[in-house]
Formats: sequence, C-alpha cells, structure tokens
Amino acid sequence: MSAITAPLFAGGSAPIPAPVPASVPASVFASGSVPGSIASSVARPARLLDPGMCLTLRPMAYPGFFEMYRAAIKNTWTVEEVDFSTDVADLARMTPAERHLIQRLVAFFATGDSIVANNLVLNLYKHINAPEARMYLSRQLYEEALHVQFYLTLLDTYVPDHAERQRAFSAIETIPSIRQKAAFCMRWIDAIQHLDRLDTREHRRQFLLNLICFAACIEGLFFFAAFAYVYFLRSRGLLHGLAGGTNWVFRDESAHMAFAFEVVATVRREEPTLFDGELERDVRAMLDEAIACETQFAEDLLAGGIAGISVHELRGYLEYCADQRLATLGLAKHYGAKNPFGFLALQDVQEVTNFFERRVSAYQVGVEGEVAFDAAF
Ligand SMILES: [Fe+2]
Ligand SMILES: [Fe+2]
Repeated sequence: MSAITAPLFAGGSAPIPAPVPASVPASVFASGSVPGSIASSVARPARLLDPGMCLTLRPMAYPGFFEMYRAAIKNTWTVEEVDFSTDVADLARMTPAERHLIQRLVAFFATGDSIVANNLVLNLYKHINAPEARMYLSRQLYEEALHVQFYLTLLDTYVPDHAERQRAFSAIETIPSIRQKAAFCMRWIDAIQHLDRLDTREHRRQFLLNLICFAACIEGLFFFAAFAYVYFLRSRGLLHGLAGGTNWVFRDESAHMAFAFEVVATVRREEPTLFDGELERDVRAMLDEAIACETQFAEDLLAGGIAGISVHELRGYLEYCADQRLATLGLAKHYGAKNPFGFLALQDVQEVTNFFERRVSAYQVGVEGEVAFDAAF
C-alpha cells in the first residue's frame, strides 16, 4: 500500500494560487516603496517551488538544507589524493573480459557526471527557490566537477591512446548500451528545459519527475551499479586506486540523493496534492525503464563472462536499490529483491574506516557528527 494517498488532482494545468509572502522585518529595508523585482527577492516565497529569486537567509526557512551544505564542505577531497599507481599494472594482468568491463565503465564515466551537472544548472537551481538550498546545489555542482575531473584522470591513466580517449567521449553516441542510458537522461533533461517558472501543478509535477529521475535513477541506479562493478573488481584484488576514489564519489552521490529526496519531502509537506497516483505510476515506470537500461548495459559489460558476477545478480542489485529509493520516497517497495552482492556489505564498513583514517591523516580536519552511509547498498 502506497504511503502516498493524496487524492488525484483535477486538471493538470490548473493555476497555482499566488504565494503569500513571508514576513520580513520592514525595518531592515527602508520603509517606502520597494521596486517589484527587489521586493520579490526579499520576500520568502510561501513554498519552495514558488517562482522567484529569494535572497533572504534570515529567518532561514529550510535550515536542514544549510546543514547539508555544511556537512558537504567538511567532506572535501581532491583528485590528487587518489593513488592510481597500482592500477596500471592491474590492467595489464586482467583478462580480456575484465578489460572489456573496465573499458565500458570508463566510457560511461567519461560523460555521466557532466550530464548530472548540466541538469543541475539547467533545471534544478532555477526552480528550487531558497538561498540555503541553492548553496547546497552550488556545492553539489563543485562536487560534480570534481567527479568529472576524477574520471578524466582515470581515463588519461587507463587509456594511453589519444584516439581511444576521444572515442570514450563519443560513447554516448557510438556504443549502443551507453547511448540508451544517455538518451534516457537527455529525455528527462529536455522534458522541463522549456519551463522558466513552475506556475501550474503540471509544471511542478514535471519538475518533481526530473528531480526524482536524477536522484533515484541516474545517481541512485546508474551510478550505484557502476560502483558495484568497481567494488567487485576490488574484491578480486584489482584497481585499488579506482576503488579508493570511488569511496569518496559514492559518499558524495549518497549526499546528493539525500538532498534531492529532502527537497521532494519538503514539497510533499507543502503541496501534498501533487503526490497522487499518477505521479506514483510515473515514478514506478521510470524506475522500471532505468533498470532495463542498466540491465542491457550489464549484458554488454559482462558479455565476455566474468566469474563471480552475472547479469542476473546485477539486475537483482538494481531491483534491491530501486526498492530502497521507493521506500525513501514513501512508496511501497515493488521488487522484493535482496542484495546479491556480499562484497558490498564488507565494503560498507571498510569505506567508513578508510574515510576517517584518510581524512585525519591527510588534513587534520576533524569530521564532526555522525557518520552514516544513508544509501544502503
Ligand atoms: Fe557525481
Ligand atoms: Fe551527484
């Protein structure tokens, strides 16, 4: 039974009532008339998705977003800390099937985070109208650039041939299993790019689907599957440099998902009628499609046959992750799959340990607060 029980709304394009501006102490801003555009910047909108450019941080309407920003700052890492020195020797001793797997993974990594960064700028920042939330998105944008740099360094290290490097960047057009995933992402980017303001319920519904798609399907399934291959290889004693950097990327992506889901939860509190049966059906269909995309990628990656990991298990892992995403969204789980990858359970503990050892020794910067890997493997 779904936790989303709000009634269906009638008429997808019904206008949304004008927001009620939150009160701002008049004394802060000189009395008298304030030009309209400035006034709309001062006033807190009634709801997070109300159009505008709110600049007011006090009183802070969404302190949780500000805390997420602060937590992200504490987790700063750099690509230069990643030691790829043993990876090149590992590549030389890998089987052809394992090398095919890593070649396809690198080709996916070459553009994956850039796609997420573009959606953040083109579609998310524009519509999430709270300065503290936009601070978090600014930090996320930096982290996506860091991930792009990490995978660029990976590509330069793993692929010495210049023409082959270039081919990796065109993989979203030339390799069918990657092209299908890219097309899925681009379709959801394009779906709301024409929206400058979320003035109607249908606009907001479309925005929510984009946000949920990038968090639950792209970061939460496509990237998680990629991390699983990396940790599988590490469980075989391979590519420790890639796995070391992946620990940090994984942590960042978990935080990105947590932020996006918190935005969804906030909108749901503010506008519960947006969360109806139609939205739920669309989310479930989106997850099904993402699993199908990632499964055909797995069929390509594992085409050579690699002992210890199979397409069937990978699909089970995707279904397990999809159930986690549904639960986070307050929806009933659908797939009933268990995590088939025992090596990920060990990974969970190891990452936390390594993370702290590394941070303390590298920076002497204390990481305060509770450490939690919110996203279950
Ligand atoms: Fe990323
Ligand atoms: Fe991300």
